[in-house]
Amino acid sequence: MLKGARRTLDLLLGRRSAFPAPTTPDAEAAALLRSGLSDWHARTPARYARIFIYGKPLFVQRSERALFDQLAAHGLVERIGPSVVQPCVRLFPLYGRFIATDLLSRKEPDQVFSLMFEQVYFVRNFDVRPDDAVLELCVGSGVNSLFAADAARTVTALDINPRALAFARFNQALGPAPHPLELLEGSLFEPVPGGRTFDTVLVNPPFELVPEDETWFLHSDGGEDGLDIVRLLLADLPTYLAEDGRFQIITWTPATADGALLVDLVRDALPGHRLSVHLLDAAPLEDHLGPFRESPHYEAFRARLAARGITDVHFMYIHTAPSAAPGVEIVAPRAEIEAAHGLADGWI
Ligand SMILES: C[S@@+](CC[C@H](N)C(=O)[O-])C[C@H]1O[C@@H](n2cnc3c(N)ncnc32)[C@H](O)[C@@H]1O
Repeated sequence: MLKGARRTLDLLLGRRSAFPAPTTPDAEAAALLRSGLSDWHARTPARYARIFIYGKPLFVQRSERALFDQLAAHGLVERIGPSVVQPCVRLFPLYGRFIATDLLSRKEPDQVFSLMFEQVYFVRNFDVRPDDAVLELCVGSGVNSLFAADAARTVTALDINPRALAFARFNQALGPAPHPLELLEGSLFEPVPGGRTFDTVLVNPPFELVPEDETWFLHSDGGEDGLDIVRLLLADLPTYLAEDGRFQIITWTPATADGALLVDLVRDALPGHRLSVHLLDAAPLEDHLGPFRESPHYEAFRARLAARGITDVHFMYIHTAPSAAPGVEIVAPRAEIEAAHGLADGWI
């Protein structure tokens, strides 16, 4: 009811939520945009957050007009009144970069995934080395690959969603310039030429548990137990991972009394590897099924998960590497978890 009234008000006020992807700037325009955004964010962080984190309209002050003309020219904001603009994207300031993603109000299945705790934790903790050829599956906005590219020899990244790749190209162009980032379109390893192997493979895959009869956002539809995409990628991973390569995944996974299903899947896919598992969070299964509680298929879906003994969901980062002592070690790095929350919780 409230949502319906909100939608009507938005329509009456001419507010839209479905915008084209932002326009990729050339190097000169990117430098201007970046310095304008950096200054404005540093001077007025609350106004910045109002429009680019919380998605609210903003009354543009005289001193801000030149910046907002540039932002509008690149499709980051839209004018809805003589001096009022609304955001077309979310724009996350992260360690010297600005990363654009879709607004949460975009309802189309191709919505480009927002930033939250998981990307902050991933970019702070992933193991990317100067000589690495890196592959990121499911690149989304490009956030992880852009930070990986600051450290690695090469980064190749792919996504099935052309809109995500358009955002990744925008974020790459906005800079500051990283080592080259190669962006490919397709499903999982499909667009990677045969014979190529990588020193590390990174992924933050779709992870939500979605009843089989429901359609959901591409960025989060992990099938009934949330692990459909993970199973597919693990099947081909050994072909693309260098002999001494490392695999790194951050995601939610269903768990039974015996532990997280993901840990067993990764261990089986990479025998001879040692798994370091960072346990980042845990919650009862019910907490993750909220969006589907009204679905006519909910009870049957819930019963199928219960029959498999799934009671919880765990959030984890797993790092694997070949080892003379394969096995699993589980840690909960509290200080790092708090540090990542310290930044990302301001985005909720
Ligand atoms: C959870 S989002 C992560 C995005 C980004 N890596 C991040 O950390 O913000 C998952 C991404 O997987 C992509 N995706 C879904 N199915 C895919 C597939 N079969 N092959 C490649 N990408 C896929 C979605 O379009 C989405 O961008």
